[in-house]
Amino acid sequence: MIDQATIEKIHDAAEIVDVVQDFVTLKKRGTNYLGLCPFHNEKTPSFIVSPAKGIFKCFGCGKGGNSVNFIMEHEHLIYTDALRYLARKFNIPIAEKEETAEDQRLRDERESLMIVSDFAGKYFSQILHNDNEGRSIGLSYFRQRGVRDDIIQKFELGYCPDRKDAFTQAAQRQGYRMEFLEKTGLTIRRDDWVRDRFGGRIIFPVHNLAGRVIAFGGRTLKNDSNTAKYLNSPESDIYHKSQVLYGLFHAKREITRKDKCFLVEGYVDVLAMHQAGIENVVASSGTSLTVEQIRLIKRFTNNVTILYDGDAAGIKASLRGIDLVLEQGLHVKVLLLPDGHDPDSFSRTISSSQLIKYIDENESDFIKFKTKLLLRTTQNDPVERARLVSNIVQSISVIPDVIIRSEYIRECSSLLDVNEEILYQEIRKLKQKETETHYNKTVREHNAKPAPTANTSPASVNLFDAEEKAILRLLIKYWDFHLFEEEINPNETQIIKVGEYVFQELEGDDFVSSNPIYQKMIDEFKTYGWEPGFDCQRYFTNHPDSKICQLATNLLAEKYIESVRWQKNGSWMETEEEILFTLVPKSIEEYKLRKAMVLEHDILKEMQAAQSDHNEDKIIELQMKWMNLKQVVKILSESLGRRAITR
Ligand code: CTP
Ligand code: MN
Repeated sequence: MIDQATIEKIHDAAEIVDVVQDFVTLKKRGTNYLGLCPFHNEKTPSFIVSPAKGIFKCFGCGKGGNSVNFIMEHEHLIYTDALRYLARKFNIPIAEKEETAEDQRLRDERESLMIVSDFAGKYFSQILHNDNEGRSIGLSYFRQRGVRDDIIQKFELGYCPDRKDAFTQAAQRQGYRMEFLEKTGLTIRRDDWVRDRFGGRIIFPVHNLAGRVIAFGGRTLKNDSNTAKYLNSPESDIYHKSQVLYGLFHAKREITRKDKCFLVEGYVDVLAMHQAGIENVVASSGTSLTVEQIRLIKRFTNNVTILYDGDAAGIKASLRGIDLVLEQGLHVKVLLLPDGHDPDSFSRTISSSQLIKYIDENESDFIKFKTKLLLRTTQNDPVERARLVSNIVQSISVIPDVIIRSEYIRECSSLLDVNEEILYQEIRKLKQKETETHYNKTVREHNAKPAPTANTSPASVNLFDAEEKAILRLLIKYWDFHLFEEEINPNETQIIKVGEYVFQELEGDDFVSSNPIYQKMIDEFKTYGWEPGFDCQRYFTNHPDSKICQLATNLLAEKYIESVRWQKNGSWMETEEEILFTLVPKSIEEYKLRKAMVLEHDILKEMQAAQSDHNEDKIIELQMKWMNLKQVVKILSESLGRRAITR
């Protein structure tokens, strides 16, 4: 915990040019500096650093922000870690907020677990290379599977001797405590015996994002159906299976560079891909894919290709993966390998360049994938076809972004020869259902919370969190940006800026949030935003309220998801700035639409009550309201659909 005064000191000291210069060669241009953008590939510089404003900005890819944002983005650090990085660089002592005894105990404990894990990793690797059993069993196994030495080194692979508690004893001799050996699961102890968890297994260390070892996977070398093929470390304070991706530490640089991540099933698949020269690859190994794992990928890229076995289990896992990835707002492609092959076995049947070519030619977007898959079994049966359409529509409906949604609707429409309008209707129905479920759930959670007391702030129900956040993000990023030019009379035009437009549009709907942090931000935009020279990024990222500061920084760091259309037609791609005239109105319409849907829901509830009271007048009044609202919802949905199509 860093205290507020220190945060401000760091922000003040972290001179943007100094910070950026560690990573980018900058040349002075007038009052600014110019360089090649580190966030996308470019040959001519469009990356500008303004020391006066304390910000960087790339006119190629649209990224921008202050020193903290730069470090977050470039080094893939969370907010507080970026602050620590800068504090170290600029020699600012960090005054930690009072840590409770419990905080401190946890921190020390986690550190101890990592230290033990580090020792174990080195021990296993040492055994693999230097111990007789390690070499004759472990190393020869890797060799026989064709794993190259440089890959063994890179992933710090190892072997644990099959000698009861040989590892545990070695660790204890070095002074490592039983408590931590047990907590990491490296040692298993019962009343009367002690043994090594991974005895007789080859070892895959699992690294966290900083490259420290936090867990292990161990593969047995026996062909015995009674032994689990893989054993993994148990959950501990440093290892939460569902939040870790195997190989991410070794892949993150390449994922950013290629702006794409391959997702495979197993440890060995990761190794095989690296060996073939494909380094942007991770495995969910040991668990079925989780939302946390996808969010982890999202910190590096918005493009995922799922690369699973072509067998029934692989297909099932891919289908599940598709919807999970789509829901998190990422683009997803799928590639099934020939039946019976995983990336590892397949890569051994062909050369590296053939593998790369095969992947390139065979990955398909999820609509084509599902269509191919389902048509294979359903032929031309109309009932089955309808089922296929609704299955695909279901997947499309979970995509959070309306523009991307419309891209897929168009594709689905042409591929399956269904009218776009019908697809929009289906999606509207699903969305309405989702709003209701969401509503019920939120209300249920709200009611389940204990009543607020004087000490706690009132529990808030925010049904509009995503929509409000989207608008706030656009506001903070583009407050001053020229959105439209309006002709007042033939020889006079007026420029409308993003901030002006948003608050004009939302005047009638009073833009208020039940989230106090959002509300504070909205109020301050309205109060200070119109002052000449108002620099909203600087204002909010240096805000005295650390919650606002953090929200602002997070909003600025959020990746914008490009539409598939903008990427796929040739190499050109529009930046977010170039399509603001679509994005800003769109996000406002989505907000209004969500509000209208919730209102519609409320009215339906009231109507039910009125019906059971037989209150005819009330019923008619509500029906009128309801029909009007329906109309609003229809108009907004259609406008959103059109906006997406005609932009
Ligand atoms: N896995 C696991 N526990 C098991 C089986 C599998 O944790 N009992 C995980 C491992 O991470 C494994 C992945 O699921 O890498 C995929 O399993 P599988 O396809 O059975 O193994 P492969 O990765 O193909 O391993 P190998 O080629 O060595 O057989
Ligand atoms: Mn395999």
